[in-house]
Amino acid sequence: MPSFTVFKGTKNDGIQEIKTEKPELKGDQVLLKVTASGLCGTDLHYKAGDMVLGHEGVGIIEETGPDVKFMKKGDRVGWGYEHDCCGHCQQCLKGNETYCPERAMYGFADLDQGSFAHGAVWREAFLFPIPEGMSDEVAAPLQCGGATVFNALHNFDTQPTETVGIMGVGGLGHLAIQFAAKMGCRVVVLSGSDRKKDEAMKLGAHEFIATKDAKELKVSKPLDRLLVTTSAQPNWDLILPIMAPGATIHPLSVDEGKFEIPYMPLILNGLRVQGSVVASRYIHNRMLSFAAQHKIAPILEKFPMTKEGINQAMEKLEKGDMRYRAVLIPHPDTSKNKHILKKALLRFALRILDKFLRYANTKVR
Ligand SMILES: NC(=O)c1ccc[n+]([C@@H]2O[C@H](COP(=O)([O-])OP(=O)(O)OC[C@H]3O[C@@H](n4cnc5c(N)ncnc54)[C@H](OP(=O)(O)O)[C@@H]3O)[C@@H](O)[C@H]2O)c1
Ligand SMILES: [Zn+2]
Ligand SMILES: [Zn+2]
Repeated sequence: MPSFTVFKGTKNDGIQEIKTEKPELKGDQVLLKVTASGLCGTDLHYKAGDMVLGHEGVGIIEETGPDVKFMKKGDRVGWGYEHDCCGHCQQCLKGNETYCPERAMYGFADLDQGSFAHGAVWREAFLFPIPEGMSDEVAAPLQCGGATVFNALHNFDTQPTETVGIMGVGGLGHLAIQFAAKMGCRVVVLSGSDRKKDEAMKLGAHEFIATKDAKELKVSKPLDRLLVTTSAQPNWDLILPIMAPGATIHPLSVDEGKFEIPYMPLILNGLRVQGSVVASRYIHNRMLSFAAQHKIAPILEKFPMTKEGINQAMEKLEKGDMRYRAVLIPHPDTSKNKHILKKALLRFALRILDKFLRYANTKVR
């Protein structure tokens, strides 16, 4: 029976390290060894949720169930927010399995495991092969953050001729700037302050606007599309005047309460508000290929996959100091040590070979 360490967010005792035991693998399930996990803003909402945290996982397949067909032991794969769906409803048949009424998603299903862990058991059907040349730590934040922003752009037909606004330069936002810029769009970044201006411009932004204390926003061209990736809902009164007629707003933030938007500007300018959650598997796979081809990568800060490492990373994210995605690495020292040991063994073997050849040479003479 597979058993592995997981990190759970609890109501009264903070992060707890516990063991999860799973039944023998069945159907297309695989057992994975986790090698990296991103920390998403949504994890903060669940930190007291009595559930195992993390949904930006990357790992290596260690065992395969009886019906696994396409993946094998040793494959490097990622997974994200959705773990299962019914496979036969209208949404599933359309490739919109993220809206399947029987979807199994982070926060609602499989609460005994997540990517803040050393292992996990998931269905092969919900795993994504990691493109060659993309490291585990780069791939991890793409499994939710990358998928979510790419989905908003790609699934809703963003054109290279568009001016796209990205509001909030965090885990999602800093990836969204890169995706939109590589899609050929003009990218306008809206951020609380000027602090992130230089990095946003380096990531591909064409224009940067600090929103704090602004009574009115000025853009050189109205926005055809806006991805809102702030951790709370923005002031819509400030935003609507910079939207082009017929523009689309993608509110991606997870927030409590109501969505309240000035009513007449929405009607009179034919604006569209388009909600969405993460990405279907079809789009997720396309996102990974696009990121690999265009060398889109998160700027990341690494933390050890321990109780202390998770607490540190969460505190930094909550304070707004993360640049720009935390990635938790299980056993960072072991893999580094293994590498050092391998190198030392190789050097030792070469020295022995060298000595042997010299000795053989003297004998021949
Ligand atoms: N819809 C989906 O499928 C989906 C998927 C993943 C995440 N999410 C949600 O998307 C949001 C962003 O996630 P993330 O991982 O990118 O979080 P993050 O790294 O914390 O980034 C959020 C950004 O929002 C801005 N911000 C911080 N505090 C704020 C506040 N009080 N009010 C307004 N803005 C604030 C900051 O950007 P600036 O400094 O530039 O202002 C910050 O970098 C979260 O609400 C998360 O739950 C949704
Ligand atoms: Zn997420
Ligand atoms: Zn379904």
